[in-house]
Amino acid sequence: MTIILIRIQIGPGPFRARHTAAAVYVCICNGVTERQILEAAANGCSTVAELTMRTGCGANCGSCLETASSVLDGVHAAQREPLFPILLSHAA
Ligand code: FES
Repeated sequence: MTIILIRIQIGPGPFRARHTAAAVYVCICNGVTERQILEAAANGCSTVAELTMRTGCGANCGSCLETASSVLDGVHAAQREPLFPILLSHAA
């Protein structure tokens, strides 16, 4: 698994350090970032095959598929967790 972190500095002068955005590339071949995968998942993408169709992630060498799958799994696991687990445990 290879993850490349690229920091893009936005804005000139002394405020530059305060206005940074990090892009974590999951798919180097097609320039797909973790953020794009998260956005695809938020928009209903549920499988890696669907992610590939939507973003191109994994469509070339495929070495990013395991990482992309982990990101999707993380989103889906978070979606399954109850928002108020303490309240639910007391209600049971
Ligand atoms: S790194 Fe994603 S297809 Fe090659």
